[in-house]
Amino acid sequence: MPARGWSALGRNIIIVDDYLTMSQAAAQAVIQQIKKDKNTVLGLPTGKTPIGLYKALVRAVKQEAVSFKGVRAFILDEYVGLAKNDKASYHFFMQDKLFGKVDIKKENIFMPDGQAEDLTGECLRYESLIKKSGGIDLLVLGIGLNGHLAFNEPGSDFDSKTRVVKLKAETRRVNAVNFTKPEQMPSSAITIGLGTIMKAEKIILMASGEKKAKIIKRALTGKITGAVPASILQKHKNLTVILDKDAAKHLVTHSA
Ligand code: GLP
Repeated sequence: MPARGWSALGRNIIIVDDYLTMSQAAAQAVIQQIKKDKNTVLGLPTGKTPIGLYKALVRAVKQEAVSFKGVRAFILDEYVGLAKNDKASYHFFMQDKLFGKVDIKKENIFMPDGQAEDLTGECLRYESLIKKSGGIDLLVLGIGLNGHLAFNEPGSDFDSKTRVVKLKAETRRVNAVNFTKPEQMPSSAITIGLGTIMKAEKIILMASGEKKAKIIKRALTGKITGAVPASILQKHKNLTVILDKDAAKHLVTHSA
């Protein structure tokens, strides 16, 4: 339950003071899950939001508070056309921020191959790997400014599976900062689907900072619509939202 100084809006929306506390709260939830089931299947996001979570997990592994030895992890998406060792690829990001720093087994790391010759086949392969693993036990998500989850842009079907998607101009503009030159930013990506996401046993959605406040409000309290892909999360039976107070600023709150 929320520690002192935390306030809660509803049963499963946790609002904390800052990014660090949000990251620690998410790390606690991931650690708890792994302790409950050492063979947990995780779904893990990229982006700025989960960096603090990954730092906290790396620290916990170093302190032997948790081990990833039995954990299997699926990353949610990857740019089409980028090599695994490209610094802007999600392969590189995950290796750099988490996988290369914890005791996870190589064979337990799953990432879609954005350079696959047969991209459609790669998407089918990835979706069936998730299924074969028994499904995702705990899926962690960030949210894009337009409400995208992984790379499920507005207009995505709620029952969509892993597939190749065209990125919206806004997403390309925002994510271009991770590329040396903006024109290097790919125009498409492989992403797990909203249907894939909704099948996860548990979901944690994280958001930090004022710029996420409007979309968080729309996603959590607005109409469930394909125009805001994250709004489908309102229908998930085991969703925990962890927000810092800036991202929660448009939600109606009352102090604890
Ligand atoms: C990318 C990723 C998403 C992520 C989003 C938000 O587009 N595909 O998984 O949630 O960006 O990123 P950030 O956490 O940097 O705001």
